[in-house]
Amino acid sequence: MDKLVITGGARLTGEVAVSGAKNAALPILCASLLSSEPLTLRNVPALNDIATMLKLLTRMGVTVTREGDSVTLHAGGVIEPVAPYELVKTMRASILVLGPLLARLGEARVSLPGGCAIGARPVDQHIKGLQSMGAEIGVEHGYISAKATRLRGARLFTDMVTVTGTENLMMAACLADGETVIENAAREPEVVDLAQCLSAMGARISGAGTDVIRIRGVPRLAGATHRIMPDRIETGTFLCAAAITGGDVRLTGTSTGYLDAVVDKLMDAGCDVQAEKTPAAESVRLIAPARLKAVSIRTAPYPAFPTDMQAQFMALNAVAEGTAVIRETIFENRFMHAVELQRLGADIRIDGNTAVVSGVNRLQGATVMATDLRASASLVLAGLVADGETHVERIYHLDRGYEGIEAKLTRLGATIRREKA
Ligand code: UD1
Repeated sequence: MDKLVITGGARLTGEVAVSGAKNAALPILCASLLSSEPLTLRNVPALNDIATMLKLLTRMGVTVTREGDSVTLHAGGVIEPVAPYELVKTMRASILVLGPLLARLGEARVSLPGGCAIGARPVDQHIKGLQSMGAEIGVEHGYISAKATRLRGARLFTDMVTVTGTENLMMAACLADGETVIENAAREPEVVDLAQCLSAMGARISGAGTDVIRIRGVPRLAGATHRIMPDRIETGTFLCAAAITGGDVRLTGTSTGYLDAVVDKLMDAGCDVQAEKTPAAESVRLIAPARLKAVSIRTAPYPAFPTDMQAQFMALNAVAEGTAVIRETIFENRFMHAVELQRLGADIRIDGNTAVVSGVNRLQGATVMATDLRASASLVLAGLVADGETHVERIYHLDRGYEGIEAKLTRLGATIRREKA
């Protein structure tokens, strides 16, 4: 298994490009199942999760052609509506094939998902919504088995805000009979990106980006071309890398547009964050202070502070001046990076879903283990400022969600290399 070896102390400067959003690309790849015509996507990031999804879709019978960051998917032939355990277990987002398969083919067999080890993460809301649309669903031998001759539009209310749940139901509703209303819908920008792609395919969707989404079903969807939005979590993570190293970094191909909560906190920490826009392109520049100030955060659904940036802010606070309180409200058990950060010398106390982080002057390099995707990112950030070498093991988590992270950090002046562990 690969590991990253980081020598701390370099101040990051310069410019790097942000890739397309993993969490927008994953549902949009699944949207290809809704049409018998080709769907072409641009700005698709080269990530392990994307490769897994493409493998899953290929196994089902979708023809996939990849050229650089462009992917064309064609679900025109016979589709086998089964998502097997060996592919689904590595990536929870595989559940996103359920809605499209059921809507277009009237049946699906999808293994219950695995993915990041951050809490229980059930999919009951996906199932409940599809049942309300007339699907017959059973769970047997670890598989969700679903059937419906044609889904019917319905009024759906999810018990909590769920991102992939909203996406699955929105995709299913596109081909349902009549109108579906999703209340308590996720407002995440990735939901809006999916809605834009579906609309380009001929879907009739309004309200994406608000908590009530209306979808009027149509008999079929057509092919389309769509550009995946920039990755706001990769953007946020690189802004944190600039911030923690006292750096001055410009991120291109992205914007502050979907990052208000994160940018606000970076400014509170003493950073200067500027959105830059020319007619040709958008970028974000961050200039860090000599020492960051501690900032407290509380995660919540968009537009509040994203849970996917919580671990990175724990790393920032570990070396900031003062004490910060971090509350995680989305996932239980999402503080696994705290013990690893403590091994680097961080002062963190955990009580349930709250972490109290008292900034220290210096961290010391050590061997640490990545436990999930964003936890891994926080360990890399800490390694960038720790004295000596930090070895981050189990970085397959990182490769699921960050395209060429060591190449991008090297470009900005970090001393980081990949080694076979
Ligand atoms: C998505 C993102 C992930 C992000 C998360 C929260 C993708 C591919 N992944 O994950 O990066 O961290 O949103 O912003 O977009 N829940 C249930 N029952 C359900 C569904 C969810 O209890 O049927 C709970 C979950 O356990 C969790 C909360 O609802 O506590 C939110 O989860 P959800 O928004 O569904 O996360 P994902 O869509 O899996």
